[in-house]
Amino acid sequence: MAEARDVVFHKATDQPNSKQGVRHAGRWAGLVVLAGVLSGCATQPSILDPHSPEADRIARLSWLLFGTAAVVFIFVTALLLIAIARSRQPADGDRLPPDTPEGDRRTLWMIIISGAVIPAVVLLILMGFGIATEQANAARTGGTGTIEVIAHQWWWEIHYPLHGVTTANELHIPVNTPFLVKLTSADVIHSFWIPQLHSKMDMLPGQTNTMWLQASQTGVYTGECAEYCGLQHAHMQFQVIVDSPDVFNAWLAQQQKPAPAPANDYVREGQQAFLGSACVYCHAIAGTNASSTLGPDLTHIASRLTLGAGAVPNNPGNLSGWIINSQAIKPGNQMPPMDLNSDQLQALLAYLATLK
Ligand code: CUA
Repeated sequence: MAEARDVVFHKATDQPNSKQGVRHAGRWAGLVVLAGVLSGCATQPSILDPHSPEADRIARLSWLLFGTAAVVFIFVTALLLIAIARSRQPADGDRLPPDTPEGDRRTLWMIIISGAVIPAVVLLILMGFGIATEQANAARTGGTGTIEVIAHQWWWEIHYPLHGVTTANELHIPVNTPFLVKLTSADVIHSFWIPQLHSKMDMLPGQTNTMWLQASQTGVYTGECAEYCGLQHAHMQFQVIVDSPDVFNAWLAQQQKPAPAPANDYVREGQQAFLGSACVYCHAIAGTNASSTLGPDLTHIASRLTLGAGAVPNNPGNLSGWIINSQAIKPGNQMPPMDLNSDQLQALLAYLATLK
């Protein structure tokens, strides 16, 4: 009981302070949210930081929509404030519209024009800009390169059919060179999205959607799955590596080569560990007997930036963790834990490190 009284007493005497406290807390909460939003802008790929002609159009459309919404918001808020101010003034009768049939008609027309006609015109104009943006972005922009992307739960299978290259979770394109990207899915609906380069495109089983992908600046762009597709939807990322034509061609030439034969006994031991274990049921390494296409092609695994479709950076520590128990890194993925002793694991890591 004494405790309860204490609480009441504190509340009663602290009232002004607690109000201040609420205001302070409100300000801090505002700052924290703002900081979060701004830091998000700095680290996450944003459609407002475009690096291709297509993304430029999308960013311009976004600003147009935002600007129009802001103008409408300010206009409507101003009208609302004027209405509130006038309703607080003493009613002297002659401020109100005369209660006549003519006055009623005027009110009705005002409601129709400002509530239906003006919004319809504004929305139709915005829809026109939206359709124009879509059409411009879907237009063929030239180029002869083709990339096929097949979405899986939860990784990306990637082919360069004209060049005989298969890889995973990484697209490489030369700067300022449009590539036709063909998108489909092996299981459920996914969505292909590189915020800084293009709009989203759904990936549907049994259907191929296409888009022209290009980038106007070299660099590494983050792509992600933009359609909820199961447990690891959030860990279904890919990288788009945009290089100069020379660097891109060197990458392509390297990817066309089969895996090198083991250069020494230790690496050969690692290759045997791979070929003698369950790895071969799902993975392919060109130049060996491993040729399953259930999981990502590992012919050039050492050249990739991440493991598990962006789940962790590709380095020896993460790779050994992934091999032994990938479920701890990305629960629900299709890869079972591998039963290897530490000698086999070390040799296998040495072998995989040669697959550049
Ligand atoms: Cu694939 Cu979400």
